[in-house]
Amino acid sequence: MIEPILEVRDLHVRFPVRRNLLGRTTVENHAVSGVDLALVPGETLALVGESGCGKTTLGRTIVGAQKATSGAVIFDGKVLTSMPERERAPYRRQIRMVFQDPFSSLNPRFTLRQIIGDPLVATGEARGSELEDRIAEMMRRVGLSPDYMDRYPHAFSGGQRQRVNIARALIVNPRLVVADEPVSALDVSVRAQILNLLRELQAEFGLTYLFISHDLSVVENLADRVAVMYFGRIVELADTASLYDAPRHPYTEALMSAVPIPDPALKGRGGRILLPDELPDPSNPPPGCAFARRCRYAEAGRCDTGEIPLEHGTRCVRREELDLQGIVGAPS
Ligand SMILES: Nc1ncnc2c1ncn2[C@@H]1O[C@H](COP(=O)(O)OP(=O)(O)OP(=O)(O)O)[C@@H](O)[C@H]1O
Ligand SMILES: [Mg+2]
Repeated sequence: MIEPILEVRDLHVRFPVRRNLLGRTTVENHAVSGVDLALVPGETLALVGESGCGKTTLGRTIVGAQKATSGAVIFDGKVLTSMPERERAPYRRQIRMVFQDPFSSLNPRFTLRQIIGDPLVATGEARGSELEDRIAEMMRRVGLSPDYMDRYPHAFSGGQRQRVNIARALIVNPRLVVADEPVSALDVSVRAQILNLLRELQAEFGLTYLFISHDLSVVENLADRVAVMYFGRIVELADTASLYDAPRHPYTEALMSAVPIPDPALKGRGGRILLPDELPDPSNPPPGCAFARRCRYAEAGRCDTGEIPLEHGTRCVRREELDLQGIVGAPS
């Protein structure tokens, strides 16, 4: 059994949205509600789900940019969430994040040298010619000419800026990279280049990726496994091939039906499933399955009570019936 590099245990993140006159929180948004995940070294786990389901919040909590309300983030066997800031600092370089928007995430007043070299300067790890060499080397690795070192971000395209972001994340030799929609803001033609680059860098540096996307079609060729997130919870977790072959949760089924690729395997499934626009109130999560109100299979009395666990890779009460009917594969 391979030891996971990252474990997330029963993680909850809630944001205060209203306070009373005494400053006490009276209403909270439940952004992440009991997430469990484990990543093994070298794998790519995709985290997929629609806008607002909690993907960025989960990613930020893993890298330490957001405080957990409860639960644990465990890296290399160490519980980061209960560590004082000073002890946690060394782990910040081992877990790095790449952000979605290559335009707003780069400070326009800094040169690429300053942006990419910043993590090394901040820790005092390299200076002078060594600093310059490491920046130049990293630029080459991500496909940027070191000749551009003293230019400002405005001179670059979206794809090139995302290369800068990746260089900044990797210059401190991290082991885990949380990539939050790294290609969503890019033109389709540039997407494949950045995805290829991420794949090459993963092989070269032995990186583990948590790859966040709202779009299932982006992750098929990249991810080893896919976690589908809905309303702060993981509702399906499976190997990429089995998920695309036979989605087990009705929400995954709906997401899959929206994938615009002309995949014959998906065609016979009855076309696109349109979901009613009824997201639950994040400050007042419903009992049972949060997807029930939009689910075409939902049954009153069964789907809207109690806590539905993630079992056999899906958080759905229909799982056992589907198994019996042989509609989906044997429990893994
Ligand atoms: N700082 C914050 N304060 C209050 N609520 C927040 C904050 N950040 C996120 N939220 C709420 O938490 C929930 C999850 O947001 P999050 O940004 O994690 O979703 P997401 O899946 O990344 O969405 P997107 O695909 O749009 O990036 C949303 O309801 C959002 O409004
Ligand atoms: Mg997000």
